[in-house]
Amino acid sequence: MKNIDSKGHVTGKSLYLDDIPVRQGTLHAVVFFSPVAHAKITGLDLTAAKNYPGVIDIMTAHDIPGENQIGGIIPDELLFAENETDFLGQPIVLVVAESERIARRARQLIKITFEELEIVTDPRKAAEKGLLLTPPSIFSMGDPEKKWSRCKYVFEGSVEQAGQEHLYLETQGAYCYPAENGNLMVHSSTQSPTAAQRTIAKVLGISMNQIQVDVVRLGGGFGGKEDQATAPAVLVALASQKLEKPVKLVFSRSDDMQMTGKRHPYSSDFKIGLSSDFKILSYEVTYYQNGGASNDLSPAISHRTLFHTTNSYFIPDVKATLYSCKTNLPPNTAFRGFGAPQGMFVMESAIAKAAMELHVPASLIQKRNLLKENDLFYYGQKARQVNIRKTWKTLCDEYRLQEKQKEIETFNQRNKIYKKGLALMPITFGISFTNISMNQARALVHIYHDGSLGVSTGAIEMGQGVNTKMLQVAAHAFSIDPKRIKIESTNTTRVSNTSPTAASSGADLNGNALLVACNALLLRLKSFAASMLGATKKDIEFIKEKVYLKGKETDLTWEKLIQQAFLNRVNLTEHGHYATPVIHFDVEKGKGHPFAYHVYGTAAFVVKVDVLRGIYEVEEVDIVHDFGDSLNQTIDIGQVEGALVQGIGYMTMEELRYNNEGKLLSNSLSTYKVPDIYAVPKVLNVTPLKTTGHSLAVMGSKAVGEPPLLYGPGVYFAIQNAMREFNPQYASFDAPMTPEKVLMGLYPQNKSVAEPAKTEKRLLKTE
Ligand code: MTE
Ligand code: MOS
Repeated sequence: MKNIDSKGHVTGKSLYLDDIPVRQGTLHAVVFFSPVAHAKITGLDLTAAKNYPGVIDIMTAHDIPGENQIGGIIPDELLFAENETDFLGQPIVLVVAESERIARRARQLIKITFEELEIVTDPRKAAEKGLLLTPPSIFSMGDPEKKWSRCKYVFEGSVEQAGQEHLYLETQGAYCYPAENGNLMVHSSTQSPTAAQRTIAKVLGISMNQIQVDVVRLGGGFGGKEDQATAPAVLVALASQKLEKPVKLVFSRSDDMQMTGKRHPYSSDFKIGLSSDFKILSYEVTYYQNGGASNDLSPAISHRTLFHTTNSYFIPDVKATLYSCKTNLPPNTAFRGFGAPQGMFVMESAIAKAAMELHVPASLIQKRNLLKENDLFYYGQKARQVNIRKTWKTLCDEYRLQEKQKEIETFNQRNKIYKKGLALMPITFGISFTNISMNQARALVHIYHDGSLGVSTGAIEMGQGVNTKMLQVAAHAFSIDPKRIKIESTNTTRVSNTSPTAASSGADLNGNALLVACNALLLRLKSFAASMLGATKKDIEFIKEKVYLKGKETDLTWEKLIQQAFLNRVNLTEHGHYATPVIHFDVEKGKGHPFAYHVYGTAAFVVKVDVLRGIYEVEEVDIVHDFGDSLNQTIDIGQVEGALVQGIGYMTMEELRYNNEGKLLSNSLSTYKVPDIYAVPKVLNVTPLKTTGHSLAVMGSKAVGEPPLLYGPGVYFAIQNAMREFNPQYASFDAPMTPEKVLMGLYPQNKSVAEPAKTEKRLLKTE
């Protein structure tokens, strides 16, 4: 089935926040934010801005009737800075005017004076100064300290990883208008309608039931609207409450890029120990996470880094320590993968380092250590239904990787200017929110008496196709034509207490809740059909809009059945609740069974580096991915392709640059390069691994949203392998691998192209 949004998207008819027709008298807001990264505010002159014609109000922390506090997990984030600013981009004032243009002009008239304070942007420096957002987190199994002496080889190294801008096509925004009796209607581009509702209630000093949050869809979220969409929603609600007027706020791209947090940059140190046959015996890692000025989702992201520290490998002795460091950058936040890519990149760097030192291909070490059935993840969960080796083997066989490696070697021997590299990237990703209580969802199903359905869930459609999947679930449950079903907007009045649509579990949680509701309705309808046909419930089946009795078609159709059920006063509405069973986790001990299941996959990357210019091309990516029993392969393959390209961008060209004053230099699309169509691998193959699915995945269809982003690091190591064909000494781990870095890495001591370094012959010895 096609994505139900595809036609609307390509014809431009799909509605986003900015398309909602505004009400008469709507006011427009812009945020005046801190122009410096860390300072004491000594003066704020709002007179000129206030007097600018068309300005209705200028609001600051003094206008907040409730609490000036929007922290999601830990209450450490102000809506408006008061005496001090902690990052460049922090909101200080809201300008509300008759038009956006007027608001922008007035914003320029605000005068601020400040005393600058010391600015820290580097997480290691922050840790040295004791600037931590939370106490350090440590997860471990066994004791690496005791193991080093038993390892034949031990290697150490450091790894740097930059952040990543979400660059959702639709920037952050919200629109609010007053309803009667002090109630508010809020349209928001958020992944977390309930977080917006809860925080508005706190800041405005009203209760949650006074606020209705509605979301039609997002023009992309990628995690960036899990927590950070809350501030604009609170700002419009605040202005709307005070002024009793509709208020709209949509960030410009430049404001969005400067004000909002990004994927966390990490600096890390590792130590890895191997046996003589390349088994990884021991691994120790310390992460310095650049959290920005406040926690946002950092505590949860830290946990996911720790959960994915060993990627797809079994290592008997592991210790991982994470320092979440407070710096003067916007609070960094969720981004597809949620801390896992950072942990996995360090693991892969450690393997790459060992491989380089030992003159063996990294793939040999990778393969030898892949997880097996019943291996213990170091956080205590037993690995079950492990498909990592299957994806690895299928990939190697189906895409003739051994032959490809030989072709690459021949190519490299014959070419001076171009060098090719191959790298494999296995991935293992746990599905469930790492905060156990968030693993719940609800759905509301109305069957109207004409036989059509209205389905509401807590899932947010952001391009990932969750609405199409919800529609498929309901159509399948009743065996009816999908055309009868409408997926409603996500609305906190229809479905309450929603978890964010995140952690890739939107389809699982909401789909399972939807199944609960549909199955309850189905039972009721079967009883009713049985009474109509003078039969018993167990003999009734619904197949393709027809009622079957003991396997035989009757002339009772879906429509007739529903009409009769309605006339006979049968309840045609049901509410379903689902909570993931099995999962538990003890954060103090760092042990438990946090994930419903894992998603597996392996990718192979072939890149070609131009050693004259430092530029490169991704020639081919082949992937074998574990979708389980996919509900919608078209959508799922689209998710893999999109996430892969986003992962390639993260690891190659997307380079966030801050100056020492904490100012984002790459704050527009002319200075921040994202992948375009030319960055897509020339050949991209995705093979679904045939598996039976998983009982906790919705209808066996495994979660797909984030895992394929984790293939991204593969491109980094493929480029590095190609570079080592020219400069075998190249050994740093510093993502993204921009062409500039490639060039510098190829010529560390002005080595000339005319005399390429002797490359060692490193044949791929796959077992
Ligand atoms: N795909 C598109 N097109 N747009 C998005 O914003 N977000 C990703 C992923 N795929 C995203 C996307 C992220 S970060 C997550 S967590 C999942 O979708 C969320 O949706 P799901 O739980 O329904 O998979
Ligand atoms: Mo996705 S980073 O969990 O929104």
